[in-house]
Formats: sequence, C-alpha cells, structure tokens
Amino acid sequence: MILDRVKPLDAILATAEKKSLHRTLGWFQLTLFGIGCVIGTGIFVLTAAGAQKAGPGLMLAFVIAGLICIVAALCYAEIASMAPVAGSAYTYTYAVMGEILAWTVGWALVLEYAVAASAVSVGWSGYFSGTILNEFLGVQLPPWLAAGPLALGGAPGGFINLPAVLIALLVTALLVRGTSESAKVNAVLVGIKVLALTAFVILTLSSAQFDMAKFNPFLPAGVFGGFGTGVGAVGAAATIFFAYVGFDAVSTAAEETKNPQRNVPIGLIGSLLFCTIVYILVAAGAVGTIGGQPVMGPNGVPFPAGSEELARQCALPQYADALVCSNEALAHVLRQIGFGAVGNMLGIAAFLALPSVILVLIFGQTRIFFVMSRDGLLPDVLSRVHPKWKTPHIVTMATGAAVAFAAAFLPVGQLADIANAGTLYAFMMVAVAVLILRRTEKNRHRPFKTPLIWLVAPATIAGCLFLFFNLPSAAMLVLPVWGAVGMVIYFLYSRSHSHLGRGLVEVHEDDPDAPPVPGV
Ligand code: ALA
Repeated sequence: MILDRVKPLDAILATAEKKSLHRTLGWFQLTLFGIGCVIGTGIFVLTAAGAQKAGPGLMLAFVIAGLICIVAALCYAEIASMAPVAGSAYTYTYAVMGEILAWTVGWALVLEYAVAASAVSVGWSGYFSGTILNEFLGVQLPPWLAAGPLALGGAPGGFINLPAVLIALLVTALLVRGTSESAKVNAVLVGIKVLALTAFVILTLSSAQFDMAKFNPFLPAGVFGGFGTGVGAVGAAATIFFAYVGFDAVSTAAEETKNPQRNVPIGLIGSLLFCTIVYILVAAGAVGTIGGQPVMGPNGVPFPAGSEELARQCALPQYADALVCSNEALAHVLRQIGFGAVGNMLGIAAFLALPSVILVLIFGQTRIFFVMSRDGLLPDVLSRVHPKWKTPHIVTMATGAAVAFAAAFLPVGQLADIANAGTLYAFMMVAVAVLILRRTEKNRHRPFKTPLIWLVAPATIAGCLFLFFNLPSAAMLVLPVWGAVGMVIYFLYSRSHSHLGRGLVEVHEDDPDAPPVPGV
C-alpha cells in the first residue's frame, strides 16, 4: 500500500518535548518576525505586475489574496500549536497523510522557498540598479547584465541578472558562515520597511495629484481574465499572493513561544492583517497618484506581465512613466509626484531590507531539505554539518547556487508565480491535514483550536485551488512537471532509503547542530 508510511505524531511530539527550547517569544516579537518575512518584493516590486494584470483592481486582488492567507494562517496556527516542530507543512503531512504525500509537499516547498528567494533577489536587483547605481552613483548597468534574456520575458537585451546573482550568493555565503539574523536586526529592518511604506502611504494619499478619477475604470481586465491568462483581479490576486508568502515561518517558532495557544495565532493573523491593510493603502496611493491602467494588447487584453511584448511597449516614450513598466514601482511613484528624495530613501530601504527576506527564504529551504535528508528521503550528505561553522553548509551552498541560477535568467513575475504554485499546494495540504486530525485525533490536546474549522479549512482548500487555477498557464504547469520529477526521485531513491520505511522511526529534530530560526 503506497500511502501506508505515516510517521507517528507521538514520535514527533516526543522530539519536540525533548527539545524543550526556552519559551521566550511573545506576540509582539512573533508579529515582528512575521512582518519581517512577509514584506518584500511582493509589495515593493510586484505592485507593477499586479497593476498590469488588474489595473486599479489591484486593491481587490490584495483583499482576495489576503483573505485566503488569513484562513490558511488559522489552519497553520492549529497544527503548529499541536506539533511545534521543524519542517512545517512537510512534517505535518508526514504525520497525517504519510510519506509519499509528505514528499510531494517537501518537494513543492522548494518552489515556495528557493524559487521565492530567486524572485526576491530579482526584485532587489531592480532597486539596486535603479536607486543605488543609477540615482546615487550615476552608473547604468548594460542591459545584458541587468536582466534575464528577452526570450524568457526580461527587459529587451537582457542576458543575465548580475545583481540578483550576486545578492543570492552573498546571502548564501552569510548562511554558510552561520549568520542567522538576530531579533534586533530583524526589528530594525522591519522598522525600516514599515517606515518606508508608511511614508509612501501618507505622501501619496495626501498628494495634490491624488485623484479618484484615476481609479476609473476600476477593473479594465475584468474580475476573471480567463483561464490560464493570469489577468483580471483574480489573476492579479494569484500573483500578488506572493506578497504574503512567508508568514508560515511564524509557525516554525511555535516551540519557542510563551503561551503559544494565544501568541502563535496572534503572530500569524496579526502580521497578515497588518500587511493586508498596508498593501491596500499602498496600492490605493500608487494608483490614485500616477494611475495604474494596464498596457493593453491589440485585442483589449493586457499584455502578460514580464513578457517580451510588454517590455517592447514599455520602451516606447508614452509608457516611460507608467507604473506597470517600473522595476522599482514604489520609488518610481514617489519620484513621479515630486518626492524624489523620499523615493530614493524608499529605494535604500528596499535595498537594505529585502536581503533579509532572501535570507529567511534560503534558510527555510535548507531547513526543509535538512529534515528530509534526516528522514532518509534525500542523501545524508545534505544534512552534513560544517565542523567549524555548525551550519548545513553543503545543502546551503547547493540551494544558493540554484537560487542564483534561477534569479540570473528569469523575470521576477514568473518566478513569483512559480513560487505561488508550490506555496498554494503546501497551504492546501496543511488545511487537509488539520481536517483529518480533527477526525483521527479527536481527543488530542490542541493548544489553539481554529474556530469554525469545518468552514475555515474547506475555505482554505477552495481558496488555494481558486488562486492556483488563476495563475498563468505556464506557472500552473510547473507544479505537475516539478511533481513528476519529484516522483521519479522518490521511487528511484527516497522510498528505498527512507528511515521510516527501513523501520528507523526515531525523529531527529532535536539535533543541537541544527541552526536556529533567524530573527527569533
Ligand atoms: N512575501 C515575500 C515578498 O514579498 C516573499 O518578498
């Protein structure tokens, strides 16, 4: 029977108890940690791609994606408080639905973490080139070094995104050396990001150029742009979902939290609510001042974000100032409305703060691979810890190289869509796991019990499927293709090497050499 290998929840919980970390985190630190993981390329950069898909309806897109993340977060809160252990959705699935599905989740999480790290690296590159090189140093990178190739949808003349490669490799080097971001650094970076976004909201909403007429037409591409097109308000929601990715990292800190029953849900929901409100205001400020209508193709459908056609249109003088054509959307808006200096400060804020999002994502990826390797599903070499630095250096370097490679050649919007596909699958599986546990483990202690679970979990599942089927078809296709590659590896290697399959049920999450979660 193929679904038979279920890792006992008790074995996982026993490990968590043995680990007995100090419970030091309160709701405020958790919320800060969540905001630190969440605010990044999604809002600073993809606002442009979102507007290209939905126009002013981008605001609605933020609401739709935010609501789906909030119900998903409620499911995470329940399962994280029951099983506060490493490995997140992968471990939960292992305990509830067995090894093969856990493998598919772990495999999909590569998209959530590694590909998302590539997307944030490319987003960072836009601010680095625009604000630091261009505005401050007066240096213009040759186009072939500033973006991926045209054929893949980058800027015209692009070949390799050198800044994105360099930042991904730099962050990897820091992780190999064991630099985990401290809570203090995280708090400072969160402060910088929030300050930048608050300044943006105040300046745009109070600007003389703010005009309600700019919201008209509100939905130039409709609500549903058509299956596989990725446009319309829900198409934009499927892309802009990326702006919320990362909140699940809060669940990995459940074990280090005081009174997790209260504080984990507050941290998860609090950081999401905060970001949702800020995102909607930012979208309103951007569209209300410089407008956010998409560049339409000849058939009245917006050109795909990140496409070659759009890049060509954006090179025309009439679109030079368009929101949808900018690589550093928010700084661009401020410059357009006469706050050039603040726009540059915002650019510096993105330049400083986005690398910490890359760090958390690459770290998250190595942590998932690390746990999968200790379960025997991936080769042992990946969980080897460096004798001096005490970091899983091999898996970190391999991950960093892959992140840099994808960042070199692909545009930010496509990377974000691919990351979203994997994340949506993982979120859906967590909701399924929570429901199954309500039936199979009725009496188990639940420090946090999601209210109305029979409504919330199905809403999560439906919401994830809904967003998934509104991604552009290429991103949708990546998930089954990636999954098929994963299945080949599972049956050729993992199934026969699995510790559980070989009768070794002990759980190793208490390895003292495993690096701590950054920022907590
Ligand atoms: N949510 C994170 C970002 O937008 C991944 O950069």
